[in-house]
Amino acid sequence: MIKEANGKLGILIPGLGAVATTFIAGVIAVRKGLSHPIGSLTQMGTIRLGKRTEKRNPLIKDMVSLASLDDCVFGGWDLYPDNVYEAAVNAKVLDKDLLAEIKPELEAIKPMRAVFQPEYAKRLTGKFVKKQTNKMKLAQSLMRDIKKFKKDNNCDRLVMVWCGSTEIYIEESKVHQTMESLEEGLRNNDPNIPPSMIYAYAAVKSGVPYANGSPNLSCDIPAIVNYAKENGGIVAGKDFKTGQTLMKTILAPGLKARAIGIKGWFSTNILGNRDGEVLDHPDNFKTKEVSKLSVLEQILEPERHPELYKDLYHKVRINYYPPHGDNKEGWDNIDIVGWLGYPMQIKIDFLCRDSILAAPIVLDLALFMDLAQRSGMSGIQEWLSFYLKSPQVGKGLYPQHDLFKQKEKLHNTLRHLAGEDLITHLGLDYYEE
Ligand SMILES: NC(=O)c1ccc[n+]([C@@H]2O[C@H](COP(=O)([O-])OP(=O)(O)OC[C@H]3O[C@@H](n4cnc5c(N)ncnc54)[C@H](O)[C@@H]3O)[C@@H](O)[C@H]2O)c1
Repeated sequence: MIKEANGKLGILIPGLGAVATTFIAGVIAVRKGLSHPIGSLTQMGTIRLGKRTEKRNPLIKDMVSLASLDDCVFGGWDLYPDNVYEAAVNAKVLDKDLLAEIKPELEAIKPMRAVFQPEYAKRLTGKFVKKQTNKMKLAQSLMRDIKKFKKDNNCDRLVMVWCGSTEIYIEESKVHQTMESLEEGLRNNDPNIPPSMIYAYAAVKSGVPYANGSPNLSCDIPAIVNYAKENGGIVAGKDFKTGQTLMKTILAPGLKARAIGIKGWFSTNILGNRDGEVLDHPDNFKTKEVSKLSVLEQILEPERHPELYKDLYHKVRINYYPPHGDNKEGWDNIDIVGWLGYPMQIKIDFLCRDSILAAPIVLDLALFMDLAQRSGMSGIQEWLSFYLKSPQVGKGLYPQHDLFKQKEKLHNTLRHLAGEDLITHLGLDYYEE
């Protein structure tokens, strides 16, 4: 039984930068009828139900109970004190004219002081941070913020979506294994607990679903996953699947489906926003690189198809180039191999807008996590892999990167929640007398 989405849904965001402000401004603009929520499945997507002959294709939001945009309220944390209007102007993603029309609503959203330590994101210099130096005290301060926000805004439910910067690369270790070891680590200021993990801890401990839009380790540790599973908590991660990786997970399954070989895939990006500046540091780039590289290996399965993919050379580069701002340019050179080993090439030049692609993902993750919690689901929400570059999965499972399989999983999960038949696409029954 899905509980109805009555009352207000508070969407809390650590990191009110380009993605977050584009998301918030977008929802407010849509609410006012100034624009359309393009790219969002919760707002524009339809879903087929039953047999093809039944012709039932409702909007997803008419099929399951989702929070309406009118019921969403926004809050967040940042280490710069700018309100959301100022931050959106600085991010230079949306037109000033559009921002001017919604200025009062955006100005009213002011960040709370961040949990931030510069050793985890070395290019950031903001000073609007919490004063406590102990990580457990910082987590407790976040939990007080969460409680206060809920009360002040009269929210029925909350969700949290991390839109903060990419942190330095951290691997899972002993401190991350159990809630006891994590809490011990928080009390002892363990260096393997970065700020994004402190937010994730505060969220799950407060019963707030948490999605991780960056490649940070954050909620992808047994301590948090198991706690969420056992306590009706919700986690999803990691790293919004937007520009180049979105293209990769659209194209690679298609080439593989036709047994076309791939010898090399060279991907390079130039971007000039703050994210690009943070990723210009090798320690932060490493976190992103790991997230971006895993995709092809899983989709192509070279061990099963050695003649096609054994020698694949895959390289990903990100270069900070200020003149491009948020308008990232992603180039791909793909060396493919056809019948009898004849080589061919595909070139992609994707002139994308990073935050324009990421904003609808924030919305869908927020609304679907809220749905998951109202439906009594708990733990990792693998059905939300569709939105993520490095999907978090249960122990012993490999992540599914193929966008089309991810979409089927998402649709089938929605059908399952709504008590509808799952669709296998077998379709033989149409041809039976
Ligand atoms: N835009 C995309 O297409 C895309 C795709 C995948 C992932 N991401 C990830 O999403 C995140 C946000 O991207 P963006 O373009 O908005 O970056 P951004 O630099 O514009 O915004 C990030 C914001 O987070 C703040 N921040 C950093 N650490 C924080 C902390 N500990 N607490 C609170 N605030 C903190 C920064 O001050 C900044 O305002 C990044 O991690 C990025 O890698 C973005």
